Amino acid sequence: MRPLIVIGNWKMNGNLASNQDWIKTVARGMESGMPSGRQFAVCPPFPYLSQCATLIKEHSLAFLSLGAQDTSAHEVGAYTGEVSSVMLKEMACKYVIVGHSERRQMHHEADEIIAAKALQVLDAGMTPVICVGETADEKNSGRAVEVVRGQVAKQLMVLQDRLADCLIAYEPVWAIGTGKVASAQVAQDMHRAIRLQLAEFDEDVASHVGILYGGSIKSDNAVELFAMPDIDGGLVGGASLDPQEFLAICQA
Ligand code: 13P
Repeated sequence: MRPLIVIGNWKMNGNLASNQDWIKTVARGMESGMPSGRQFAVCPPFPYLSQCATLIKEHSLAFLSLGAQDTSAHEVGAYTGEVSSVMLKEMACKYVIVGHSERRQMHHEADEIIAAKALQVLDAGMTPVICVGETADEKNSGRAVEVVRGQVAKQLMVLQDRLADCLIAYEPVWAIGTGKVASAQVAQDMHRAIRLQLAEFDEDVASHVGILYGGSIKSDNAVELFAMPDIDGGLVGGASLDPQEFLAICQA
């Protein structure tokens, strides 16, 4: 059985005071127990990982794990400004997002770099969350499945059956931060297409990989999305900044 996973991606938001309030509120909300068979994580910016790791420990927040938003494609060395996966593991991270569309678009990250990052994450003993998704133009020209299949194929080429230990996040670029959530059926169809592509490679990999949806998830659309058979949870941006909204999505 694939677990249902909800991961909050704070992007470049938060500060020492608001992070503390967020963890405190989520801890209170999760105190009364959370639905079983589910995993939850939050990905703050790098400088706050240590603070959030300490707060999660202080509140004995067994339900909540920590993740990072990116990592270096290199293991160690003269790479000014980079953060290695081994460092993230030391900061108690369990998940690392790689290939987010904001990094693909604004930092020109190619599939090869993203696969190299995913390998670093795996080698350090964490779970990569590999983001894929088409732009509005690609969708409007009827190429959504082709584009996403292409992105997944590049990961398969490098990661092979190690993809079984990864999560894939389908995040249509046109749905990110726009309020235009993909309908549950549109998202399900793409998740199904990804699952079938994985099965063409290896049935076992296909049945293991969790495929999360991301793009304008809110508490009022999460229930319908998460009910879909191939949607194994969500990668939540804007709505994860509000701890009450994040809790409501986790309950969905
Ligand atoms: P929003 O939930 O703000 O649309 O962002 C989604 C996202 O990019 C998560 O990684």
